[in-house]
Amino acid sequence: MSAANLAPQPGPPLWLLAELTYRCPLHCAFCYNPVDFATSGPELSTDDWLRVLREARAAGSVQCGFSGGEPLVRDDLEILVAEAHRLGFYTNLLTSGVGLTAERAAALKAAGLDHIQLSFQDSTRELNDFLSHTRTFDLKQRVAALIKDNGWPMVMNCVIHRLNIDYIDRIIEMAVELGAEYLELANSQYYSWALLNRDQLLPTRDQLERAERITNEYREKYGDRIRIFFVVPDYHEKRPKKCMNGWGNVFLTVTPDGTALPCHTAKMLPGLAFPNVREMGVRDIWYESEGFNRYRGDSWMKDPCRTCPDKEKDLGGCRCQAYMLAGDPAAADPVCDKSPAHGLVVEAVARAEAGAGRSAPLVFRDPAASRRIAAEGG
Ligand code: FES
Repeated sequence: MSAANLAPQPGPPLWLLAELTYRCPLHCAFCYNPVDFATSGPELSTDDWLRVLREARAAGSVQCGFSGGEPLVRDDLEILVAEAHRLGFYTNLLTSGVGLTAERAAALKAAGLDHIQLSFQDSTRELNDFLSHTRTFDLKQRVAALIKDNGWPMVMNCVIHRLNIDYIDRIIEMAVELGAEYLELANSQYYSWALLNRDQLLPTRDQLERAERITNEYREKYGDRIRIFFVVPDYHEKRPKKCMNGWGNVFLTVTPDGTALPCHTAKMLPGLAFPNVREMGVRDIWYESEGFNRYRGDSWMKDPCRTCPDKEKDLGGCRCQAYMLAGDPAAADPVCDKSPAHGLVVEAVARAEAGAGRSAPLVFRDPAASRRIAAEGG
């Protein structure tokens, strides 16, 4: 019997993230899609996704997020939302807004879509369009109005980093003006494309403290009118986050080609085979596959995590970050100041403080760059 078999039986995959496609009209420099996304296999068909939805619901999933890439580039989105709704999922669309016409909004409403999260890059046209490398600012304003007109709760998301963090007041004001009920100010985490651009994107400690202070002032000013979430970049912390709320604990991500993962980026981890929904049912994927069992619980941990009194709180942090920074997915997340590799995080923050890379060009997400990076082995 393997160590994983001795661990308590995990609960169901409550949260299904259906990454319908890696196609996207935007080119964000902090995109969390894998840097080699352009080399991934063909997308699942409509029938494949309908089966995945049924299997996931039968395995206990209750919430389904449709994301990408830009999920609106799939013209079967309405069919998938309708089936998810019929099955009893709470459904959520994570979108840049590109492709959300009045007709599609009405069709998604009729299909039973519960919730839309609209992403912005900044409060100004210049920076929004620069960061996404597209002219989308005006379109997003129209889409925000469409979301309100259809009676969906307005959830805005803005990825925060060194280039926009000083305008946090204007970002909050814009969210209030557009009538958002929720605003997620999600500081960029340094994976995938954001890792390539880390020197240009990681904010300084002063910038971060100022942004948190301003956010708190706005929370006081607006009270219940808008709920503002501020997610700190973990490079500025001393203890790691409990990534994905625990490996294989709640989240099941299915990528466009059908690979099932415990998080968006786990496919890069060496020595781990992740199953594909074309070949294995969701229940078996969740409970039986090696990929999902490997880092469940704490039996895989080494020191310092193994003997750490906080191990149940953070579960050793993020496996992907441990691999990306320390080269070992079973190591402590280097964000933790007990990690022997913590110096790498300290060094990255010091580079940000010193303004390193400020003038270096950003690498924008696009298929040609993705293929080039994949060919170079990175
Ligand atoms: Fe993969 Fe944290 S992002 S485990």
